[in-house]
Amino acid sequence: MEERYPMRILAADLDNDAAYKLMTGIVVPRPIAWVTTLSPDGIVNLAPFSAFTFVSTDPPMLGFNVGRRDGAVKDTARNIGANGEFVVHIADETLMEPLHLSADDFPPEIGEAAALGLAVEPSTMVAVPRLAAAPIAMECVFSQSVHFGRAGAEFFVGEVRIFHIRDGLCTHGKVDTAALRPLARLAGPSYGGIGGIRHVRPNRPVTAAEPL
Ligand SMILES: Cc1cc2nc3c(=O)[nH]c(=O)nc-3n(C[C@H](O)[C@H](O)[C@H](O)COP(=O)(O)O)c2cc1C
Repeated sequence: MEERYPMRILAADLDNDAAYKLMTGIVVPRPIAWVTTLSPDGIVNLAPFSAFTFVSTDPPMLGFNVGRRDGAVKDTARNIGANGEFVVHIADETLMEPLHLSADDFPPEIGEAAALGLAVEPSTMVAVPRLAAAPIAMECVFSQSVHFGRAGAEFFVGEVRIFHIRDGLCTHGKVDTAALRPLARLAGPSYGGIGGIRHVRPNRPVTAAEPL
């Protein structure tokens, strides 16, 4: 009999690197949280995180996963631990290069935003500044974090206190995805755009009297 799924990979056979490679190719495309945090010395840290989603809408809450770098805690995780605030930005396709470069391994005393020439401006409800160039910025206050697995991954959740959305991108509370042109992460140093957008009818309850 023909096998439907000829390749089988036992999870127990994968080390951390192999599982990362496989999963970042499978869970695609991923939205990207481009996160500013503030160090205790006042350095504005900037880094992208594509293990990212929202976890609640009442109140609005976002979460992203921060791994370890060679066993060491990343600046973003350390800064959130220190002052409990961060700003999540959504980058459009024009920001692909600075976004990617902001993931380089900068020492904690060098702020990625300044090093990359990205202007920041004061936030409204948190002390962490936000990126001027990003079409969307969400000021967040830390809510909780959860540790997963054996490699030190920590999922950070924050409550959004205020959304900043560039003029023309949001009408009657609805974001125009085509106008936003959000950047998505694929595997490795590969990115995608939103591509063609197709519309289907809204979902509805299915009953015996009114089947599909
Ligand atoms: C597009 C993109 C997405 C990334 N997503 C994640 C992620 O979800 N979790 C993570 O720990 N690192 C992720 N990284 C790597 C971090 O951005 C990188 O380790 C960064 O240097 C961390 O910076 P920090 O030490 O200033 O916090 C990603 C890198 C890129 C380019």
